[in-house]
Parts: sequence; C-alpha cells; structure tokens
Amino acid sequence: MKFNLTEEQQMVRDMVRDFAQNEIAPVIKDLEKKGEFPHDIIRKLGELNLLGIIVPEKYGGAGLDNISYSVAIEEIAKVCASTAVTLSVTNSVCCYPIMTFGTEEQKKKFLVPLASGEHLGAFSLTEPQGGSDAANQKAKAVPDGDDYILNGVKAWVTNVPAANTAVVMAVVPRGDERKISAFIVETDREGFSVGTVEDKMGLRCSKTSEIVLTDCRVPRDQLLGEEGDGLKIALHSLDASRISIGAQCVGIAQAALDLAVQYAKEREQFGKPLARLQAIQFMLSDMAMEVDAARMLVFRAADLKDRGKKMTAAASQAKLYASEIVNRVVARSLQIHGAVGYSKEFDIERLFRDARVTTIYEGTSEIQRIVIARALLS
Ligand code: CAA
Repeated sequence: MKFNLTEEQQMVRDMVRDFAQNEIAPVIKDLEKKGEFPHDIIRKLGELNLLGIIVPEKYGGAGLDNISYSVAIEEIAKVCASTAVTLSVTNSVCCYPIMTFGTEEQKKKFLVPLASGEHLGAFSLTEPQGGSDAANQKAKAVPDGDDYILNGVKAWVTNVPAANTAVVMAVVPRGDERKISAFIVETDREGFSVGTVEDKMGLRCSKTSEIVLTDCRVPRDQLLGEEGDGLKIALHSLDASRISIGAQCVGIAQAALDLAVQYAKEREQFGKPLARLQAIQFMLSDMAMEVDAARMLVFRAADLKDRGKKMTAAASQAKLYASEIVNRVVARSLQIHGAVGYSKEFDIERLFRDARVTTIYEGTSEIQRIVIARALLS
C-alpha cells in the first residue's frame, strides 16, 4: 500500500474540493436551515460523473478506483455531509449491486441514467421491524406470470423521495422457502409510494423516507441475480458502502478539526489565544491523530477492494473507527468553540448533528463489531 495519492487521485481530490468550495459551501447553510434537498448541486455532480464515480465508463460512469471515490466523498463531506451520503448511496448500494450482479440489459437500462445524474439511486433493505436484523424481511414478492407483485413497507430509505431507481429487497415465497431477493424498481411504478418522510436531527439536506409497496408489479427481468440472492447482494454491497461512509466520517471530522484549529487561533481568553493553552493543544492533537488513523483505515479498505481482496472486516473496521472518532472529534471541536459552538450561526453545530447518525446507519457500531469478530474467529 502506497501512502501517496496518484496523480489521477490528486486531480480528483482537487476537482471535487473546488466544486465543494465553490458550488456547495455558499448555499449549504441556507439549504440546511430549510431542510431542502440540493437538486441543483446533485445535477451538477451528475454532470461531473460523480454519481457514477465507480461505474465503468462503458455505462457512462467515471470508472475510477475506490481510493478516488473515498477521496471524493471526504471532500464533499467536509462541506456537506448530506450531499456525501446522497453520492455514497447512489454509487455504493444502487449502482454497485447493479454493476456487480446485473445482466447486461439491466446495466444498460439502469446504470447509464444513474451515472449521468439523470436518475438518482436508492437502496432499500431496512423495514420497520428489521434494521440490524437484516434477514428479518417481511416485504413479499409473489411471482405472477412474467412479473413479481411486491407488497410491504420499507423504512429509512436514503434518497427517497428524490430517487428514481431503487434496489429493493423482498421475500419470494417458494413452498416452505423464504427467498430474500433483490429487485430493481423504478420509483414511479404504480404501487410504489412514499410513506413517512423522516424529520431528522442531522443530514437534513438528504432525504430519508418509508416506501410503501402496494401490489407493485415488477417485471421478472428486474430481479437482480437469482431468487434467494438478495441478502448476499445487500451485505456484499454494504461492505463497499461502509468504506464510503467511513470516508464521509473522515470528511466531517477533518472539517470539525479545521474549524477547531482556526477558532483556537482566533479566540483569546486569559490574555492569549486558546491555541496557546495546553488543554486545547492536547485536544487538537488527539483529534488530528484520530482523523489520520481513520483515513488510513478507509484507504486500506478501499485499496483491498481495488485489488479484489476480501475486505469485509477491513470495511467494518474503517466504518466503525471512523464513525466513532467523528463523534468524539465534533464533540471536542464544539467544546473548543464554547457557547458559540452551540449556536446555529456556527458550522460546528451542523457537523455535530450530522455526525451522530454515522454510528447507526449502514450497520451500527455493534453490527460492525459482530462482522469483525466473525472474521477473527472463523
Ligand atoms: N458479503 C456477501 N455475503 C455475505 C456477507 C457479505 N459481507 N455476509 C454474510 N453473507 C452471506 C452469508 O454467507 C449467508 O449466506 P448463506 O445463507 O448462503 O450461508 C447470508 O449472507 C446471511 O448471512 P448471515 O448468516 O451471516 O446473516 P445474519 O442474519 O447472521 O446477519 C449481520 C449478519 C452481519 C448481522 C447482517 O444482518 C448485517 O450486516 N446487519 C446490518 C444491516 C445493515 O447494515 N443495515 C443498514 C441498511 S442501509 C442504511 O443504513 C441506510 C442508508 O441508505 C444509508
């Protein structure tokens, strides 16, 4: 593993950094206050091919490696964690399973508009009774001629209602067997409707909703893989997406650290800048070390993925560590800001709220520990 980014990876970083600074930073505070989905920003990110950053060029994507992808997510998350999760979900859990398990027809039909940003993607595994217990699926897909008829309620679906295409898990009953299966479903299909739109603590520019499936007819050729492959497709895709959520955490943490350093240099107490107080220096040192360590775990998992190596545990370690440190880093940065950090005027207040969900979504910290322990003990 090399510790320097290649020239191409540096170009991606610089391009995305410029975009985030010039196009997202000026508007994000206002959008976040209103809880608005940043349609214009997402459209422009599509034009830059970032919604299909890992999608092969053959299907209209940028065809980049997972380190470039992580770097891009980190740069976006430094400015807007909501936009970072929108990108992550479209790439890792919508495009990626179609790229990996789809037929040639499915790839042409669904990846091309996703990669160009014409369409936005979603992934739907969680149900009201089953979050961590992903195998406990209740939504049904009953075969009917050349179609399946989907019924059920899916919960906490990122990007809905903005998304056009969703990879949806549902159970196909075959005699006594319950075959969890993955379907590519257009969100404008009859019988597909949006339920409760969550009113969230953070990531308020990313939309998260229930999906209600009521006799939603989906053609057989939109089954991804074979009947019964759904849980494996979902867990394999989550391995990939945990790397990008790790990168999102690194971006939020780096932003919180940068704000803390800047504020500690500017703010004077007891006749000198906060930065001259050893208590503050110790906090900043720990924050910097943790951000670097998290970034290295993310890059290691991305590098393993790029080399086609097994990376399930490495992805869980990256996601677990990055999500835990980002919560410590934002809390310390807010502490350094003192009372103003508690005000919505200051960006650290948003970063503090945005970081909170990262130990919960894409597999809680407890689930990551289960995955890591299984790899250790198998
Ligand atoms: N890749 C591919 N296949 C895998 C796999 C992986 N990483 N891990 C397990 N599998 C396979 C197993 O081999 C098994 O296959 P067989 O039936 O052929 O043996 C099958 O998948 C089921 O695996 P387990 O028996 O290990 O399943 P389990 O019920 O014991 O659960 C778990 C394992 C690790 C707890 C899993 O349920 C899990 O990861 N839960 C968390 C789910 C999660 O992360 N949800 C987040 C949803 S997305 C989100 O957060 C929203 C968003 O959009 C941001």
